[in-house]
Amino acid sequence: MNKNINWSELSFGYLPTDYNVRCYFRRGKWGELEVSSSENITMHMAATCLHYGQEAFEGLKAFRGKDNKIRIFRLDENAKRLQSSAETILMEKFPLEMFREAVLKVVKLNEAYCPPYESGASLYIRPLLIGTGPRVGVKPADEYLFVVFVSPVGPYFKEGFKPTNMVIMREFDRAAPQGTGHVKVGGNYAASLHSGEIAHAKGYSAVLYLDSKEKKYIDECGPANFFLIRGNSYVTPASHSILPSITNKSLMKLAEDMGMEVIRRQIRVEELNDFEEAGACGTAAVISPVARIDDADTGKSYVFSKDGKPGKVCEKLYHKLRAIQYGDEPDTYGWTTFVE
Ligand code: PLP
Ligand code: COI
Repeated sequence: MNKNINWSELSFGYLPTDYNVRCYFRRGKWGELEVSSSENITMHMAATCLHYGQEAFEGLKAFRGKDNKIRIFRLDENAKRLQSSAETILMEKFPLEMFREAVLKVVKLNEAYCPPYESGASLYIRPLLIGTGPRVGVKPADEYLFVVFVSPVGPYFKEGFKPTNMVIMREFDRAAPQGTGHVKVGGNYAASLHSGEIAHAKGYSAVLYLDSKEKKYIDECGPANFFLIRGNSYVTPASHSILPSITNKSLMKLAEDMGMEVIRRQIRVEELNDFEEAGACGTAAVISPVARIDDADTGKSYVFSKDGKPGKVCEKLYHKLRAIQYGDEPDTYGWTTFVE
């Protein structure tokens, strides 16, 4: 591990590594996995990913433990979710077993870029699937490309595990009620760029989106799910237009193990008053505690942390999850895969 990177100063961004892994779907079948050291891809100018948004991606992480071993967190869940995204926008599904093989291969090939245990950083893994076949009419492509690359990363929100402020703005939606919010397709992120930039310019870490039909219930943040804590309950939104977060699913299990009651239901905005802690959760965000949520339309503010510190339950969940990811605690659910 000799890459001259200041691991503990890393932010969440792209750093070049040595290799990526690719696979092409042509003439009705997936080819072999190919290793590439180019950061570029070439494609037809009429490729469907460029015109009609046939693009889906994933995000997962590899962690180097105290034992120097590298563990990948819940990789099969990401493989399945990519299939569900592909199905939703009529792309060719990338086979689960090939996803596993490609991810293990790209991490192994770039293992020198997996940050050291003490740094608290990790290796972000970004698989993507795009329609590359040319179309001018609005139709699915007949050729696809799967690529997976990696980049060493630090925290997604620059504050790391410190509470940040979020904002509700009703004039923006991220996903339609029966649209594609439940899958990880590029269009959802394009739809959130404008509102995200406005929020950042005003000093917020993220937008907290409401359901786009009634604007009554909490959905999720642009890049992460949302949860609330009251006493012994972990409460997280039920909605068709939010991404089923693998981190949230894991936290629900850990909360249950800690004897908490886990509730998934619609949450009205005004209910934010009734909770003691709030957090965003996701692969990139891990747990990002929320200090305050401002409702830009009503002028109301909901405060969860006054002293700049995370709440006790967020803290406990964060440490528990990290301990499993880095191999400090036993992986009782078989969530991690070793890179041999
Ligand atoms: N919600 C959105 C919109 C996301 O982009 C992400 C990130 O992947 C998440 C939630 C969190 O999902 P996961 O925990 O599977 O990374
Ligand atoms: C992730 O958490 O993996 C994400 O994809 C969030 C964001 C970078 C889009």
